[in-house]
Amino acid sequence: MTETQATSSAGRAAGCPFAPAPELYAAQKLDELPRVTLPNPLLGDFDAVLVTRYDDVKSALANDQLRMGGSMPYQAGNLLSYDGADHTRLRRMLTGSFTTKRARELRPAIEGVVGSALDALAAAGPGADLVEVFCNPIPTLVICELLGVPYGDREDFQRRTKVALDFSVSREVQMEKAAEMEAYMAGLVARHREHPGENVLGRVVREYGDQLTDSELAGIGNMLLIAGHETIASTLSASIALLLQHPDQLAVVRDDPSATDGAVEELLRYTAPAAVLPRQAAGTMCVRDQEIKEGERVVASVLAANRDPSATGQDEEQGQGSGQDLDRLDVRRPPHRHLTFGFGPHQCLGQQLARMELRVALPALFTRFPTLKSAVPHDELDYRTNALVFGVNTLPVTW
Ligand code: HEM
Repeated sequence: MTETQATSSAGRAAGCPFAPAPELYAAQKLDELPRVTLPNPLLGDFDAVLVTRYDDVKSALANDQLRMGGSMPYQAGNLLSYDGADHTRLRRMLTGSFTTKRARELRPAIEGVVGSALDALAAAGPGADLVEVFCNPIPTLVICELLGVPYGDREDFQRRTKVALDFSVSREVQMEKAAEMEAYMAGLVARHREHPGENVLGRVVREYGDQLTDSELAGIGNMLLIAGHETIASTLSASIALLLQHPDQLAVVRDDPSATDGAVEELLRYTAPAAVLPRQAAGTMCVRDQEIKEGERVVASVLAANRDPSATGQDEEQGQGSGQDLDRLDVRRPPHRHLTFGFGPHQCLGQQLARMELRVALPALFTRFPTLKSAVPHDELDYRTNALVFGVNTLPVTW
């Protein structure tokens, strides 16, 4: 097996953080899947089989021998802590709350949240940090809707979320704030046990409350907060930063509502915020006829897979392998089945909601602020490349 060392945990190219590192393109061309040593903010350095081709990533993530294993710290109620039948059972309780129809029903609430973030931006400017005023508040307030956080608690909830998810503070402070958040969730669960609301937590309590413990219900709340906050905030910040560097593409998002859905898919494909998905083999298995032994770790690179020109199974009009230049951002690209939301049993539960948030937020921002521009040179932007989720730490803009 080929031995190689990847440059960063997510394998992003130095100097061009949207692109995969050259090692990932090289790995795609190898006959064998290489073994790499990867740094990981949760696991420390670890050895893993690196999977980079589109078809291989799909086949690996769909293989039931590949488990989350110890890839994430265990938390009751968090789907990413479960595998197999336990995972299926818990996931089934939640899927009804995350359908396309449900995302459509949430659209007016999302428009309200985006509208108030835009008002706050107008009041803060002409000049502000978009991450602080726009990208962070939107997902937090949408999660408040999902969990039924009362309006009176929302400011406090936003403040707690910000600290609990701020990975730049010490581990101790983070744990302390996470514990405060868990206590808040426990209170919210108790309220829903008594009066189940018309939201995700209320629905789960009504339909499955007798099958779930309070700590599992609180864990579901925490999972939605963690899975639905950083991912959206980061996709928004990365997409806006990218569009500000491509004014022709930005103009399409701003001026052509019929292009919105496709543009959001292209931005998801290109930014791939959760760039690597770690797994562990529960038994001996194969990816592309190559044996992976029980206990071995595997890392699937979504970032590389999304740009793999040899991808099969794309839409008819693209043909096998599409032959398109997948390194280019093209918001009018014909549909491409990117893997940004993962694949297989753990595929993102919130993907329709995520799409809806992006479809509402991005055109609304550029329509309300048509002269929006970066307040710093593009090459001085503070990208977050080594965290689990890629984004921009601060995004100073003017208009
Ligand atoms: C653009 C935004 C988002 C991206 C890029 C994203 C990406 C992902 C990915 C890649 C996975 C699979 C992880 C793995 O296989 O290891 C995942 C799982 C998950 N996501 Fe998302 N996500 C986003 C937004 C959301 C939102 C808004 C929610 C809900 C509020 C959410 C809830 C979840 C949950 C619950 C899981 C675990 C599913 C399971 O294990 O069965 N995500 N997400």
